Amino acid sequence: MNDQVNLTIDGQEVKVPKGTTILEAASQIGVDVPVICYHPNLTANGLCRICSVDIGARVQVAACVTDCQEGMEVHTQNESVIRGRKILLELLASASDVENGPDILTLINDYDADVSRFAFGERRKSPIYDDNPFYVRDYNQCINCWRCVQVCAEDAQYTFALTFNGRGFSTGIGTFMGDSMPDTTCVFCGLCVSVCPTEALMPIREKMLEDGVDPDDVFRKTRGGMRKVKR
Ligand code: SF4
Ligand code: FES
Repeated sequence: MNDQVNLTIDGQEVKVPKGTTILEAASQIGVDVPVICYHPNLTANGLCRICSVDIGARVQVAACVTDCQEGMEVHTQNESVIRGRKILLELLASASDVENGPDILTLINDYDADVSRFAFGERRKSPIYDDNPFYVRDYNQCINCWRCVQVCAEDAQYTFALTFNGRGFSTGIGTFMGDSMPDTTCVFCGLCVSVCPTEALMPIREKMLEDGVDPDDVFRKTRGGMRKVKR
């Protein structure tokens, strides 16, 4: 049984084992496909669609969750793909604050996306949750990439402190029943913070330094994981 598939990506022939995603195959031959929600250590879910590529017959698929097929002709940079990514970035920037997402800002620049194009549209609004001694949650900067939920669940920690909340445009990340973080199953491992592509999740010390708190005070107030003095 042949367990290899042959395809072309941007005209380059490539042979990969069955089950290889287009993203992985492209990476093997040095073709860079942009990603946002994808993280190499987490299960890919195909949520953001920035990695969409053209596979012919006017079909675009998310490269991070689509397996290579025999004879596929993949185009990662044609006009419709580039136009789609540009609009997607413009919509993303209109719905969430991506100012502190360096990889997203790089893509906005690369694709010449106009972040003011949909400025008249609705923006997600959330309170800032400063309810524990380790990190702050500012879901105004959340892009619903799902990475924090996955790393908190089966992909790593098996803690299940985070979930999706809301419906439609108001869908966001939060705790079950909106509990404050210390009242959840969270063990404060910090993995969610480490995989967040924006500053929706931010270590408390970093946040305090950004807010201009004196470094000595930051250390004193956060020593032992507990802020001794109210900020
Ligand atoms: S909080 Fe960060 S990691 Fe979690 S879904 Fe939002 S952007 Fe992604
Ligand atoms: S990177 Fe593939 S859908 Fe987000």
